[in-house]
Amino acid sequence: MQRIADLRKTLHEHNYNYYVKHDPTISDFEFDKLLAELQQLEQAHPECADPNSPTQRVGSDIDEQFVHENHSYPMLSLANSYSFDDLQEFDIRVKKGLGVEQVVYTCELKYDGVAISLQYKNGALTRALTRGDGVQGDNITANARTIRSIPTQLQGNFPEEFEIRGEVCMPRAKFEAFNAVRAVAGEQPFANPRNATAGSLKLQNSSQVAKRPLEAFMYYIPAFQPSDSHFENLEIARSWGFNVPAVAQKCTSLDEIFAYIQLWDKKRHNLPFDIDGIVIKVDSINLQQELGFTAKIPRWAIAYKFKAEEARTRLLSIDYQVGRTGAITPVANLEPVQLAGTVVKRASLYNSDQIAQLDLHIDDYVFIEKGGEIIPKVTRADVQTRSLFAHKVEFITHCPECGTQLVRTEGEALFYCPNSENCAPQIKGKIEHFVGRKAMNIGLAEATIDQLFKANLIHNFADLYTLTYENLIQLERFAEKSARNLLQSIADSKQVPFAKVLFAIGIRHVGETIAKTIVKKYPSIDAISAASIMDLEAIPEVGTKIAESIKQYTKNPANQAIIEQLRAHGVQLEVSENEQTNAEPLSQTLAGKSIVVSGVFQSKSRDEMKALIEVHGGKNASGVSKNTSFVLAGEGIGPSKLEKAQQLGIPIVGEEEFLNSLIM
Ligand code: IVH
Repeated sequence: MQRIADLRKTLHEHNYNYYVKHDPTISDFEFDKLLAELQQLEQAHPECADPNSPTQRVGSDIDEQFVHENHSYPMLSLANSYSFDDLQEFDIRVKKGLGVEQVVYTCELKYDGVAISLQYKNGALTRALTRGDGVQGDNITANARTIRSIPTQLQGNFPEEFEIRGEVCMPRAKFEAFNAVRAVAGEQPFANPRNATAGSLKLQNSSQVAKRPLEAFMYYIPAFQPSDSHFENLEIARSWGFNVPAVAQKCTSLDEIFAYIQLWDKKRHNLPFDIDGIVIKVDSINLQQELGFTAKIPRWAIAYKFKAEEARTRLLSIDYQVGRTGAITPVANLEPVQLAGTVVKRASLYNSDQIAQLDLHIDDYVFIEKGGEIIPKVTRADVQTRSLFAHKVEFITHCPECGTQLVRTEGEALFYCPNSENCAPQIKGKIEHFVGRKAMNIGLAEATIDQLFKANLIHNFADLYTLTYENLIQLERFAEKSARNLLQSIADSKQVPFAKVLFAIGIRHVGETIAKTIVKKYPSIDAISAASIMDLEAIPEVGTKIAESIKQYTKNPANQAIIEQLRAHGVQLEVSENEQTNAEPLSQTLAGKSIVVSGVFQSKSRDEMKALIEVHGGKNASGVSKNTSFVLAGEGIGPSKLEKAQQLGIPIVGEEEFLNSLIM
């Protein structure tokens, strides 16, 4: 039908004007009217259905399992550089490799998001793959179609068939708003826009992805080259409807490259999205081909990574937060200051040693830095400007919540409030941990826990099982449906396997992985309670610290009473036969290997990586020791793990290498 074709073309153009050019030429009202007309016509003419129609941007409610597919060309990474010296060496390598004295480079932004590869045939989007292990990626076409700045139908003089690559990002302001909504709904907020993007692209229901504020920027056409200049190719791709910010620049000298880097290091915080550096590419495609690739990276490109940005501000006071285990975390209250595009008022101080090491005084000017996490950290004090009257920070001696004297165990960095049964934030924190997704998975928001606690309905997590419909319905914000949902969710949690229950009850130092290891040897809470410290220490991965912590927990009468309460309500306190038989691995590729997983991965979540290790017969270990076979490192790997691995000479294996080593 001609009208359908015309409407689609018009709407594709308006989409482009709005989401790529940011320059709409019609009002939202007019756009919606045209879209509604198209929707009606498509309903009346199902034979004209097209997954790339502008009406399909809202996604579908059908859950999809992603299918792994081979990339047409491997999706490689980039070499990183952190200094101008590194770039100088790169320039020398390139010129030597080509045997020339002059090279034209294109500098462009390094978008801090998640890579995507798009395939187009006759101008229509036919496939979208994640990077995966670089050879195979997940087919996320349905999700990609919901990202408005990815054209589903191209315009202009596009080639018949080609692939284009880019990065999906979540603009910072939209990320903050999205995270705030999540927090209110009791969902775990994402640490940064990149993680939020990765999480969004992995959703299996594209109508949910459509609600996530994602954007895509294109930066590379792997095979088909419209011209010999990468810079020109970016311009041409823009003319086909792709979102390519017009800020790339051709540079003919290192000085020009340095100037571009310095300019964007300053300007990056005014951008609506995060960039973590600049990518420098040899501009000529012929020369790129001459230089070629190593197994992992192109020889013709390099990423320059920006340093974490620093700001200077005044330290006003220190708050001491009490966590669920009673751990005391100091947090600095700061005079508000702009840092990396946001106003910072608080910063982490980690522990008392850190405060002592920084020699902090109240009213000091301090420097703060933002790493991968949302909360910045204090890196040093500006000692020269310290007032003569400034007071040195003295770490507190008593719990700010319940007044109990704090204790610090030999060898531990943190102070603890030992009043675990009566200190309000500890009780609430334990309940929050207990209901968490990785623990009992009970749909209970922090605010509701507070409400139940204040109404005297719960004093510990076992009390959740005593809640009744009558208890809940009398509370503010509880309607029949929410009360019934909560009760159902609590009832469902009685089926949660014992390993998760063991994690949920919140024994200090017993994380998810350790809990799983323990139940393999001691498959019930009674067996664990009966085990001696020596027995427990004999479990691989369980050291004295963990064994002592378990013993301390199980011999405490208050904890014993809670366990009995859980038992009376039918919570799983032993491994069911079912689970035991399920424990057989599918392959033995990693048999005998003890692996520590750390950092954030591109193709899988950390939990998925751990599951993969188990499926292949390997063992997940929580800390690096001389028994560790290797560390599987993602981006932002914990610095202490990295350091320890380097000290002990333990190999560090990247995501790609690891996935390639598995026969799947
Ligand atoms: S070019 C063969 N250009 O950074 C070269 N990559 O750390 C392909 N990235 O895997 C990459 N902005 O996901 C290129 N302007 C840009 C980029 C960019 C972000 C990502 C990309 C790459 C990663 C390497």
